[in-house]
Amino acid sequence: MAQLTAWVNGRFLPLEQATVHIEDRGFQFADGVYEVIACFGGTFLELDAHLDRLERSCHAIRLQLPLTREQLRQRILDTYQRNPFDDAMLYIQVTRGRAARAHLVTDHLTPTIVITARHLPMPSPAQIAQGITAITLADIRWKHCEIKSIALLASVLGKQQAAEQHADEAFWRDSDGHILEGCATNCFALINGTLVTHPLDHQVLGGITRNLLLSLARAHQIPVEERPWQLSESGLSECMISSTTKAVMPVCRIDGQPVGDGKPGPVARDLRRWMLEQFHTMRHTGDSRA
Ligand code: PDD
Repeated sequence: MAQLTAWVNGRFLPLEQATVHIEDRGFQFADGVYEVIACFGGTFLELDAHLDRLERSCHAIRLQLPLTREQLRQRILDTYQRNPFDDAMLYIQVTRGRAARAHLVTDHLTPTIVITARHLPMPSPAQIAQGITAITLADIRWKHCEIKSIALLASVLGKQQAAEQHADEAFWRDSDGHILEGCATNCFALINGTLVTHPLDHQVLGGITRNLLLSLARAHQIPVEERPWQLSESGLSECMISSTTKAVMPVCRIDGQPVGDGKPGPVARDLRRWMLEQFHTMRHTGDSRA
């Protein structure tokens, strides 16, 4: 695709010309929320779940979406039509809008809405065979991680720190040493054969892929537990992450130590295969819940 097209406040524009005002509150205050949605062969993965979460995020920051759900859905589909990658990721950002810089919002503002679509890169077979590595960091984020806020400075710095240590992701841990989630992923451990992940609360984002993964595990008779967990627990044999852009990936080293035998575990490999089979079915049947 030679030229990407973005949707900006009601208009389709070539990406190069797609701009937002410097006094947009998203730019000034990170006063906004977002979603990242995957699309395979023209079928969106869990579009409704993403729209539900976007509405929840908007509600949580008291931002009223100026589009109905159907209008927004149509804009997302239209943006994809103009950038029809076989594996695509759609980015939707909503900010409170444009105003002279002041923390307090006094005027009635029109929210800014931006939608872009890009190619969604898939990890290479070599990357999957190797798994990913992570470091852990004390959680320095705000106390509302269930909101998909565009204020991602802590996660940007966390990812940077991971990269400097030649790791792929940083996992946030709470003051008791529990693993909460990654900078842009949810985290799971296999402990004595049970797939364990932190429960949904204000310390983690309710990942759409997290839900898919838990459903897949249950469907294949893998026990699931949503509870705080630590890396030091006995019986921990595997770790993995989930996100829209990564699906499921095994995590083989954390803080320089091997997880289990230091190779992608069989359960993570199975879960990844089952999830990719689901994506494959979507491409061919157009059913995102196939
Ligand atoms: N990030 N936790 C955090 C902090 C995230 O930023 C994300 C997603 C997830 C996984 O959520 P989901 O399965 O709905 O993608 C968990 C997106 C992909 C991003 O910021 O690019």
